[in-house]
Amino acid sequence: MEKLSLHTRSGDFVIPAHTDISIVELAKKHKIPWGYSCQRGICAQCRTKVIEGAEHLNEVTEKEKVRLRKAERAEGYRLGCQITITSAGVISLKHAPY
Ligand code: FES
Repeated sequence: MEKLSLHTRSGDFVIPAHTDISIVELAKKHKIPWGYSCQRGICAQCRTKVIEGAEHLNEVTEKEKVRLRKAERAEGYRLGCQITITSAGVISLKHAPY
């Protein structure tokens, strides 16, 4: 599995990518400050901009379609608690809360 780049206000981190857990859970596991609260697609504290590698992520979920505007989704914004990695590749994500 390839590396995953996570960009936060606290700095940039590169960690091993895993397919079985969400970006919020991955960040927590590596003690990377990635804001979150509900982990159910409601609060949007985990809002994330996909910089690179959208093709290696799961499809946008119904919860993201409800919580994020269509224009935001078109610009690459998603919810970190809803994103999982589905295939190996270069992936770069930025924590982008409102
Ligand atoms: S943690 Fe609340 S929407 Fe992701």
